[in-house]
Amino acid sequence: MATCGNPNAPAVKFERLPTFAEPTHYDVRLSPCLNQFSFEGLSTVDVTIKEATDVLKVHAQSLLIQSVSLVANPGDAAKTCDTSYDDKLNILSIKLPSVVQPQKVQLIFKFVGELNDKMRGFYRSQYKDKSGSEKFLASTQFESTYARYAFPCFDEPIYKATFDITLEVENHLTALSNMNVVSETPSTGGKRKIVKFATTPKMSSYLVAFAVGELEYISAQTKSGVEMRVYTVPGKKEQGQYSLDLSVKCIDWYNEWFDIPYPLPKCDLIAIPDFSMGAMENWGLVTYREIALLVDPGVTSTRQKSRVALVVAHELAHLWFGNLVTMKWWTDLWLKEGFASFMEYMFVGANCPEFKIWLHFLNDELASGMSLDGLRNSHPIEVEIDNPNELDEIYDSITYAKSNSVNRMLCYYLSEPVFQKGLRLYLKKFQYSNAVTQDLWTALSEASGQNVNELMSGWTQQMGFPVLNVSQRQDGNNRILTVQQRRFISDGGEDSKNSLWQVPITVSVGSSPNDVKARFLLREKQQEFVVEGVAPGEWVKLNSGTTGFYRVEYSDEMLTAMLPDIASRKMPVLDRFGLINDLSALLNTGRVSIAQFVQVAASSANEDEYVVWGAIDEGMSKLLMCAREMSDDTLKSAKQLVIKMFEKSGAELGFAEQSGEDSQKMMLRALVQARLARAGHRPTIEKFNQLFTDFLEKGTPIHPDIRLATFGVVARCGGKEGFDKLMNLRETTTFQEIERQAMIAMSQTPEQPLLAQLFEYGFEKNKVRPQDQLYLFVGTGSTHMGQQYAWKYFCEHIKEFLEKYGGANSSLFQRCLKFAGESFGSEQRAVEFQDYFCNCKELNDTDRQTLARPIGQTVEAIRLNARLLESNRSVIETLLKQSNL
Ligand code: BES
Ligand code: ZN
Repeated sequence: MATCGNPNAPAVKFERLPTFAEPTHYDVRLSPCLNQFSFEGLSTVDVTIKEATDVLKVHAQSLLIQSVSLVANPGDAAKTCDTSYDDKLNILSIKLPSVVQPQKVQLIFKFVGELNDKMRGFYRSQYKDKSGSEKFLASTQFESTYARYAFPCFDEPIYKATFDITLEVENHLTALSNMNVVSETPSTGGKRKIVKFATTPKMSSYLVAFAVGELEYISAQTKSGVEMRVYTVPGKKEQGQYSLDLSVKCIDWYNEWFDIPYPLPKCDLIAIPDFSMGAMENWGLVTYREIALLVDPGVTSTRQKSRVALVVAHELAHLWFGNLVTMKWWTDLWLKEGFASFMEYMFVGANCPEFKIWLHFLNDELASGMSLDGLRNSHPIEVEIDNPNELDEIYDSITYAKSNSVNRMLCYYLSEPVFQKGLRLYLKKFQYSNAVTQDLWTALSEASGQNVNELMSGWTQQMGFPVLNVSQRQDGNNRILTVQQRRFISDGGEDSKNSLWQVPITVSVGSSPNDVKARFLLREKQQEFVVEGVAPGEWVKLNSGTTGFYRVEYSDEMLTAMLPDIASRKMPVLDRFGLINDLSALLNTGRVSIAQFVQVAASSANEDEYVVWGAIDEGMSKLLMCAREMSDDTLKSAKQLVIKMFEKSGAELGFAEQSGEDSQKMMLRALVQARLARAGHRPTIEKFNQLFTDFLEKGTPIHPDIRLATFGVVARCGGKEGFDKLMNLRETTTFQEIERQAMIAMSQTPEQPLLAQLFEYGFEKNKVRPQDQLYLFVGTGSTHMGQQYAWKYFCEHIKEFLEKYGGANSSLFQRCLKFAGESFGSEQRAVEFQDYFCNCKELNDTDRQTLARPIGQTVEAIRLNARLLESNRSVIETLLKQSNL
């Protein structure tokens, strides 16, 4: 991992709470004031002391603690306690009046806190009402360690307790919490009311939530009788209909799939204007970014609508995986995130067939997990977490996408009914309690009669994943495969650890490409397997259905044999994707050349599936990226090659939706036409411009699925005039997806003054919500100028970024950091990037420790770009010469 600064500086020492005291119940009363951005709090915590002690420790942060007192026995008078505070650990130490023997006591806290604007703890969001005046609402984000911003608590997932929440708010506001309201009474003075909520089940502090504001809602009931509501700020509730319908279905579906009914009487889903993540699974009060919950049927793109379905299903899956059964410590974060991610696809796959979601799984989960896990700066799924400050960084494609893919692999290996049985056992056994990974393996072993621990620990405890090298020989009617495994590292180098996995291998063959012909388990470094009944010349492919989390590198002979069935699409789509995605990843290792990739891509001229074209497109963008660094002439020829490859599809697809098409067609159309436009294909560019003009001048709607592509062309080719039009659109639309797309498009402008204007508008004038500012970085990597500008801007404003997002551990900050560097492509830039963080005065040693992995990953990504170019320079020259362009 990248380290810098003083290597001898001691790592910041971190401490968990002492285990001799446990909370059993909290009574928390808060009075938020939306005008003053503050709240007053009074809480009583029932604590069981298990060993004699004269000190108790709890978490608290950014709270002004006015008093702490102890009630040692029921009926005793409360005794005031002295306290001391450690602001590195956020621990409040409470000195007890005397040594207390093992017994139950009560702690009473009086405190004041801030409704901050950092999107963590109890914080405020800003929005404009219909008349344009500024309004605020207050809501919470407690995961991972921010409950302590709202009330003093034992803020670690292991300390489950019940909660009684009471909120005192102005009469015209709605107050929500995890549970249903049990009473609403006027407060003294008459302007405020006291809203008391029912007692929660036993749960971890990070799942507590409140929301207070002028809210409206729509509601429905599940078959099982749970009241579901979608809340929004005024004027948006209709956009919640899609999510409401889906969430009702989802609760019933999970009730049955997990065989445990959702235990709360209600579940609210609320769209919050300022929200740092996508969504948060608070039990009974799930919070979402507006864009992740709200849908306008005529305006939302298919992709975004499917994202909404996935996010809704993800958070609701947490109600079981995470809320009912919680990881003991953050090391096992994947136990909730990996399973919520897997279940989101299970639900959407079964209930929203129109999205063809398992096709998208391959790119969005499998390929994305492999892409991060191919780096040397990856980490194992079960990751050691010492200081929770490092935590935000772990919510990454390993914890989500790799875990998800590994779950899918295991589900296929054990079969769905067996997998389901194991999960049900696990959930029942650990409900209202905590678990570790081993507990899950034990349940799955019990369900399957297999040693799941032995099979899976390699996948969750080692970082990385294998690439299998395969060669073959024929023996009569048998095909003998020699399979060798080694860690796949994107730079093609060696693995110093000599990692080994147990790899479930499936095999399919040319005569029946849709079936699994044979199954094996690779346990050794190298093994031979016999596939019976394969005719000479018939192709053999590993990883049928691309269900395994590994890549395959075939001998030339094996790969060539598959090409005709890729071209004819006789090979199933999941396999075509897997094959092409593997090849594209192998480009960076130097083991496959761009010329070889182009050869396979060329045999996909008749390809008709969006996801496969996506994989081809990704490989071709690597060619263009290299060509851009070589010379103007090379870039010109490379663009011509791309046009030659995409032109036929582009002509067939056209721009307009045809009746009877599936949801993938419009996305495919957008992808192909956007690539042609980027390659400089004039007729395509003109057509896009026409779409935009017709939209502005005649009000002809742009199909939502081709909107981003259209905006992109306008930004890249439309100069200042196009830029201004996009800016105007962003300013006048009220729909968040359009806002976001306009920003991503504008960030692709090739003109520096326009980019400067955009960054000033977004960051300095704060016209873009902090949650969305990272989108200004998304498109900058598409030009040299943009990449350099973004990097320079990041360096010059790092202080403001840190301040705005709440520090180096903020995931928004870390995502900006990555975007600002990852498109560079030279050794010199890699060094510059790394050195900057070593020397940056705005960072301290803890920050550097927190950022070590994201920095290391970005440096590695830059080096990979450089490497790709160096190993393909001459190949590209030859390829372009031979292509008769
Ligand atoms: N529990 C997370 C939210 C979270 C992430 C809290 C990081 C604290 C730190 C939630 O369940 C989640 O995973 N949200 C995802 C969306 C999901 C569909 C993958 C997110 O916010 O991106
Ligand atoms: Zn989650």
